[in-house]
Amino acid sequence: MDYTIASKRTPPPTILPPSVGIGLKPQHYEALLDPDYPTSPPEWVEVHPQNYFGDGGPPHRWLTAISEIFPVSFHSVGLSLGSADGLNVHDLDRLAALCDRYPPAAVSDHLSFSGNAHNRFADLLPIPYTYGALDHFAGEVGKVQDRLKRTILIENPSRYLAYRGDEMSEIEFIDRLLARTGCGLLFDINNVEVSSTNLGFSADAYIDAICADQVGEIHLAGHVVEQHDSGPLLIDDHGSRVTPSTWDLYRRFIERAGPKPTLIEWDTDVPQYDVLMSEAAKATAVMRGVCDVVAA
Ligand SMILES: [Fe+2]
Repeated sequence: MDYTIASKRTPPPTILPPSVGIGLKPQHYEALLDPDYPTSPPEWVEVHPQNYFGDGGPPHRWLTAISEIFPVSFHSVGLSLGSADGLNVHDLDRLAALCDRYPPAAVSDHLSFSGNAHNRFADLLPIPYTYGALDHFAGEVGKVQDRLKRTILIENPSRYLAYRGDEMSEIEFIDRLLARTGCGLLFDINNVEVSSTNLGFSADAYIDAICADQVGEIHLAGHVVEQHDSGPLLIDDHGSRVTPSTWDLYRRFIERAGPKPTLIEWDTDVPQYDVLMSEAAKATAVMRGVCDVVAA
């Protein structure tokens, strides 16, 4: 098996605009499509395709209207690419049908697994960073890309533990995965803060080690901080505003990478549309501020 990291990089597999989008929930549909809404809409949106796996009904009426106006990113949460028993074929079939129906600007899933042939969990569980796991994961990404006839993005996970048998760092695993499969990185900067605090590594060093050309999309989200005797534990709940420290990490990456498609991700305790858009405005301000300074 050739583990050489390719020196020649290919463009990231996305046609999302290098601007800010929002994670879309049903309670935001009307505001998004209202031409008279007092604030400008986002430039693109992201949905979980699993919420549109039915054949018809209101979800598809809304998605049809939205996809005629906005670029849409499909962020899958169910392929379970790291499962030793193989990926979730049922979800892949449905995802392929959805991509035919509403060709998305980007398709993504996670560097994780969510069960095996007998058990499914509603969690994105960490995989070991071993050469064997890399072989397996790269093969599963290849199956998805072959089926969808496009390259996808894989998201770095938020983690609460590391395996004793890890044979490489997460960054090395991602770098090798991208080189072998041609997939891109969905770079979740909140996840870097969560994992670095929980596992005790440098978030700045992680940010600086990521190859900017391979990043097809960025996620920004909030998290919860629990205080324990052993120190703080960060829980990646996507249920609040982006933290000041995550904004600092985002600014650090954008200063080097330039404008990138950036998503405000908010999945629990979902706020009013205006709150989501105020977070999007912050991300736009960071991106414009950094890029204006660089251009000056
Ligand atoms: Fe994310």
